[in-house]
This record gives sequence, structure tokens and C-alpha cells, in this order.
Amino acid sequence: MAGGIVIAASGNKGYPGKLTCKVFVTCIVAAMGGLIFGYDIGISGGVTSMPQFLKKFFPDVYRKEELNIGGTNQYCKFNSQKLTMFTSSLYLAALVASWFASIVTRVFGRKISMVLGGSLFLVGAIVNGLAKNRLMLYIGRAFLGCGVGFANQSVPVYLSEMAPYKYRGALNMVFQLSITIGILAANLINYFTSKMKNGNGWRYSLGLAAVPAVIFIIGSLCLPDTPNSLIERGKQEEAKERLRKIRGVENVDEEFDDLVNASIESKKIKHPWAKILSRKYRPQLIFVTFIPFFQQLTGMNVFMFYAPVLFKTIGFGNNASLMSSLITGIVNCVSTLVSIFTVDRFGRRILFLEGGVQMFICQVIITICVGIKFGIDGNPGVLENWYAMVVVIAICVYVAAFAWSWGPLGWLVPSEILPLEVRSAGQSVNVSVNMIFTFFIAQVFLEMMCKLKFGLFIFFSVFVVAMTIFIYVLLPETKGIPIEEMAEIWKAHPCWRKFVVDRNEKPTNVTTYEMTEDVKVETKEV
Ligand code: BGC
Repeated sequence: MAGGIVIAASGNKGYPGKLTCKVFVTCIVAAMGGLIFGYDIGISGGVTSMPQFLKKFFPDVYRKEELNIGGTNQYCKFNSQKLTMFTSSLYLAALVASWFASIVTRVFGRKISMVLGGSLFLVGAIVNGLAKNRLMLYIGRAFLGCGVGFANQSVPVYLSEMAPYKYRGALNMVFQLSITIGILAANLINYFTSKMKNGNGWRYSLGLAAVPAVIFIIGSLCLPDTPNSLIERGKQEEAKERLRKIRGVENVDEEFDDLVNASIESKKIKHPWAKILSRKYRPQLIFVTFIPFFQQLTGMNVFMFYAPVLFKTIGFGNNASLMSSLITGIVNCVSTLVSIFTVDRFGRRILFLEGGVQMFICQVIITICVGIKFGIDGNPGVLENWYAMVVVIAICVYVAAFAWSWGPLGWLVPSEILPLEVRSAGQSVNVSVNMIFTFFIAQVFLEMMCKLKFGLFIFFSVFVVAMTIFIYVLLPETKGIPIEEMAEIWKAHPCWRKFVVDRNEKPTNVTTYEMTEDVKVETKEV
């Protein structure tokens, strides 16, 4: 069978239950965790392009930009490791925090992890809003990062566990939607604060991070924990009652039994970190490592962090730069809705594949445009309107592609393929890898732009090709499969079978689905 097109689900499992109002509201509230992450992504680019902020904390960059020291080479204008450290330090903190968050999430539940995440973020927002020197800025960033680490560890898992399996994709993606709302809100705030006459606009931008933090803390305090987590912590009766409530049906026995079995399996494992490295979990380990790696190597965060800087670099004025990043923020947000409405109908693979192709085409167009205009020496001359339009449109189409593919799926797929026994550990790997490479992009992007010039986008496009092939060959479809039944999909996949099928195990009855244009279903003994 051609690479990765077979998927499987066990027997005729299809738990009763509907999308209840309770689950819907609960998931929306939990997904607010994405707001704090998004706010942060969106705020730093605008702040680091504000002259008053640069003058106070990074005077050397300020001098270089304002006084045009260093000649006319646009590619290198903003290159400063200290400045990028401001943006990227947060992601290092998030990386470390996610390891601790994995323990808290497993032992104390998903809810505590979320409340903690919001609280740490709140402290960071206050410290940054009051910052007097660079040290305070970095300390604030560290707290914000810890908040993001805890939230990103727990929220996607919470959503995947709460949602009925048929709607899991859409509900999980509300997390990504709230990331994009956070980014957009931050872009908007930057747009207004940058115009403040008193020179303190950056303070408002950084301090207002407290608003999404408070929303998230209050929301999480009101949330119930997931049945999976209650069972994991020995609260069986409460878990069954909770399951009845969230599924809106009396008979939840089958799903409940499966959750209990998953928990018994999970209890046998003393060291989930060591366990996830074993051969049996190889497919999960590969995906929780490579999906976040590739998500960052799409190059999306170049636009999210540095859109205003980037637009300035290609010759836009201050206002036009902030306006253009606002436009990309809107496109990002609206396009996420496309995936929410399609992911449970058409599946994950098609979105991944289409998104990859679209991003690649846009990257080629952007490279050609920037290359023709700036050449090697980075001197653009006069910037015509039509040229600026082509670049902005290509960037928007690229952002849309990411927003309905790798953006939301980068959080959904890892959180739904992990069995309970390695779920917290696996999600930590996912968050850590995501944060390492978010850090990497934030830290080296300005340096890369200075060195690679217009070839920068070629660099990312090579990865886009690689990730699209990776998905095509290796990822089975996970749409419509209950989360605790996910183990079956690997057994029917030609590449993963040999890792997961226990040679002593009796053959099981597995339903295989062949994913072609229209889905054909056949059943066979494996
Ligand atoms: C990614 C972020 C990115 C955001 C953009 C998220 O899924 O993890 O790194 O900035 O999408 O919307």
C-alpha cells in the first residue's frame, strides 16, 4: 500500500454521547489558555520595533536603526542578539516549565496545571509592565514562559480528553483559534500603543498581558477536571458521573471501561519518560518530536514575531508595517476557522498536505519578489505599490495555509495519539520541541536574514517539502477514532506495524479504512 494511506480503528467502537452544551462551554473556556501564548507571540514583534522601547533597553539597536548606522543594507538593520534574546528567552523558560508541568498534570490533574500556568503568566505580565531595566524584562519573560509551558502542556490534553471523539478535532482547535485571537489582540494593541505620545506605549503592550492571564485563571478555576484524569487519580465514581454529564447520556459504560483499562495500563508504568522511549511507542515518539519541529520550521513565526520588522525591512513605513502585520493577524485568525469546520469531516491528512503545498508556493513567490528587489546588497531603491501588494498578498496566503494546517494540527495530532500511560510525558516532549525551535527561530532569525538574505525563505521551503512528504508517508488518519482506541491505527499502518504489534499477541479484529478521494471501508482479520 502506498505510504501511509491505510488507517485502522478497532472493532465497531462508537461511544454513545453528543456534543453537550457543557462540553462545548468547558472546551471554549479551557481553550482560553491559547490566549496567553498568542498574546505573547504577537506582542514582542511590535514592541521590539518601537523606538522608545529600543532607546530605553537596546540603545545600540536604536542608534543603528534611527540614525541608519551600518549603511543601507536592510537585511542587517535589526540584527542584535540581545534584542532577539528578549523575544526568545520566554521559550526557553516554557521549555523547562513543561517538564514540571508534565508531573503536575499527571499527579494533580489538568486543571491545577492550567491555573498555575495563568498565575505565572500574570506575574510575568506585571514585572514586564513595570520594567525599569533589561534584567526586569528578562525576569518577566521567564515568568511568562513558565506560564506558557504549563498552559500548553495541559490545555491540548484537556481538550482532547473532554471532547466526544467525533468532535475532538474541532474542539481541540479552539485552542489554536484562541492563540490566533491572542496574536491579533496583541497586534491591535501594538498598533495603538505605538502611537502614544508619552513614549510608554511598550509598557501598556507588555502589561496588558495581564488581561488574558486573568481570563484564563478565572476560567480554569471554574472548570471540572477530565474523567481520564479523575480515573488516573483513583476517583472512579466521580469520573463516571462526570462522563455521564459531559456526554449527556446515562449509558457511558463502554467508554468508562475503556478509560479505566487505559488507566490500569498506565498505572503499570512507573517511568513514563523511559517508557515513551521504548519500541512500542516509537510512532508516538516520532510524531510528538517531528510535528512540533516541522511546525516551527515552516517559518511561520518569522512573520508572527517579526512581521513589523520584516515589513520595515522591505521598505514599508512604520505605520504601513504595523498595519500589514495586523492584516496577517486577521488572516491567521479567520483561516483557523476553516480547519475547525473541516477537520472532523475531511480529516487531518488532507489539511496537512494541502497546507504544505500552498505554503511552498508562497515561499517561492516571496523569495523571487524579495530577491529581485533587494538583490544581495539589500538596497531596495524605490518601493512601488504593486510590489508591496504582491508581497503582502503572498504572505497572507502563506499565513492562511499555516493557519488551517500545521498551526492547529501541530497541537491536535500529538495530543490525540498519545495513550494515557505516556500522555503527559509525550505532551511535554511536544511542548519542549515546539519551544526549542520557537526559541531557535526567534533567536537566529534576524541573524539569518542578515546572512541568508532573500535565500531565507528558500531555507524554510526545503523543510516544508520534507514535512509534507513526512505526513504523506507516515501519518495515518486519526479522524473519528476514540482517543483510547488510537493504538489500533499503528497496527494497520505498513510502516508502524512492526514496531507496535507484539509478536506473541493474538490477531485482533481490525477495521481498516482506505483513504482515497471518497472513503471506502473494508473489514479484515489482521
Ligand atoms: C504555533 C505558534 C505560532 C502560532 C501562529 C501555533 O500553533 O505553535 O508557534 O506562532 O501557531 O498562529
